[in-house]
Amino acid sequence: MCGIVGYAGKNPALLVLLQGLERLEYRGYDSAGVALIENGTLFIEKKVGKIRELIRSVWGKELKATVGIGHTRWATHGEVCELNAHPHTDNRGEFAVVHNGIIENYRELKEELQRLDVEYRSQTDTEAIAHLIALNYQGDLLEAVLKGIKKLKGAYAFAVISVKEPNKIVAVRYGSPLVVGIGRGENFIASDIPALLPFTRKVIPLDDGEVVDLRPDGVHIYDSEGNLLVKEAIDVPWDAISAEKGGFKHFMLKEIFEQPRTLGDTIRGYISRDYHIPFSLRDFRRVIVVACGTSYHAGLVGKYWIEKYARVPVDVVYASELRYSDAPIGEKDIIIAISQSGETADTRFSALSAKDKGATLLSIVNVIGSALDRESDYSLYTHAGPEIGVAATKTFTAQLAVLYSLAISYSEDKERLTENLLKIPGLVEEVLSIADRIREIALKYAGYKNMLYLGRHLSYPVALEGALKLKEISYIHAEGYPAGEMKHGPIALIDEKTPTFVICPKDKVYEKMLSNIEEVLARKGKVIGVGFQGDSELRELCNDLIDVPSVHEDLTPFLTSVPVQLFAYYIADYLGLDVDQPRNLAKTVTVE
Ligand code: G6P
Repeated sequence: MCGIVGYAGKNPALLVLLQGLERLEYRGYDSAGVALIENGTLFIEKKVGKIRELIRSVWGKELKATVGIGHTRWATHGEVCELNAHPHTDNRGEFAVVHNGIIENYRELKEELQRLDVEYRSQTDTEAIAHLIALNYQGDLLEAVLKGIKKLKGAYAFAVISVKEPNKIVAVRYGSPLVVGIGRGENFIASDIPALLPFTRKVIPLDDGEVVDLRPDGVHIYDSEGNLLVKEAIDVPWDAISAEKGGFKHFMLKEIFEQPRTLGDTIRGYISRDYHIPFSLRDFRRVIVVACGTSYHAGLVGKYWIEKYARVPVDVVYASELRYSDAPIGEKDIIIAISQSGETADTRFSALSAKDKGATLLSIVNVIGSALDRESDYSLYTHAGPEIGVAATKTFTAQLAVLYSLAISYSEDKERLTENLLKIPGLVEEVLSIADRIREIALKYAGYKNMLYLGRHLSYPVALEGALKLKEISYIHAEGYPAGEMKHGPIALIDEKTPTFVICPKDKVYEKMLSNIEEVLARKGKVIGVGFQGDSELRELCNDLIDVPSVHEDLTPFLTSVPVQLFAYYIADYLGLDVDQPRNLAKTVTVE
């Protein structure tokens, strides 16, 4: 969840670190800090708040250091304060550490360290790493790290610099993401690729248990026993501009508006490879989709499509629930793990435990080279480019495109269905052209404290996604429900103070939806609808209607999900909230 960046090169490290941290801010944003080796001593600066606070405090300091590490924090252990912000150091101020993840046995380690007279100053688990490395140091930083990690339990990534060996960074990946960036006379590490994009597109993703010794003139990667490994760099297909706002007020808005292109790229990717995966879903008795958050909602949509076209039963399970379940899983099952980042701890580890039991693992990821990508038997990619807004948008529709492409590859009518799918980017463009109208409607509802989202069949996951978007970024309590279940509970919530957002395209459950809308109206609830253009019946019932072009009923989620994204965005922006970095959330959740 926290962001890590490191630089060893020939240029002033501070500027590289600050640029990198700004691009990683979506990972965590409660405090930030840097450590550099300046004239043989550690220079450390930490600030509570956003990266700009850190920038303000170091601005004008002419530091010459060419090696350093930086961190942006999403607190796990210890309150948000300067003392708990990273980097953390040993008692002599010779080693500085930035860390992402959790050291699960830190209490034990802390007691052990205190028995050795170490003064433990912060409430973090990270500080233990700095002391451990200092205690193990006998003239070789790499050795000290290799010894130190033998004592650590948990999932983590960290980077350390030391005045004892000022020309290098040693970093470890064990469960949390870390990539090495390769430059000319300069090298980098970062928790995520966007931090590296202004400097290099050549990266080596580290695998769990690997340790890197990074210097300006070389990168050496070792396994946890210290054996040198040979690893190839990959070229990242993203450019630095794709991770910038490009004139939009927020990344989220830019990413919503990018959807015609990202959908087009993703769909074309599948058509050009003719939906090829080297096995058939029909070879398995069951598909189990695992995912978290928005990716889970994409999985719910995918279930309808895969069951319809591939005729294989699909279970969709929250990754955090599958991981510790006693469900019988084996060779006859295929796991489809869906993850934008490919690094979400719950998704990775639940998928891996199913793989250990013999299941085949197919992943749908946006980040090529991410852990899940490398750990899977086979990966399918969403070509959505970097997604920076914490609330996922363009990757959701790109995941839908992959799932739909995969499902229809089993249809006899594949050619016609593909032709229809190819029209989707243009139709999404049409939905975006009424963004102003959606804004007008959204602002009418910005003052409510609770909202209900209802949908049936393929629109049910869209209702869940709409409610998730609203609560994530506007902090308005919202519940998504299958409309047919409303009468078994949520109907009790409906009154004039709780508006209901209905996803109601003309599909096979349309009539049923109309009845559910009537039930809301009968209880004085206000109704905002998303439906097809020209649907006068729905228009009549709804207080406000957002109409989208009519499409084949299978394809409705591509069009109905865009208004729910915009609706949430405009409310959050109107309320003056931090849309791209909503409180308490992180883009990639690498802890359990
Ligand atoms: C976090 C993000 C969500 C995202 C979820 C799953 O909660 O804030 O936007 O949907 O993680 O992330 P993944 O990278 O696995 O798709």
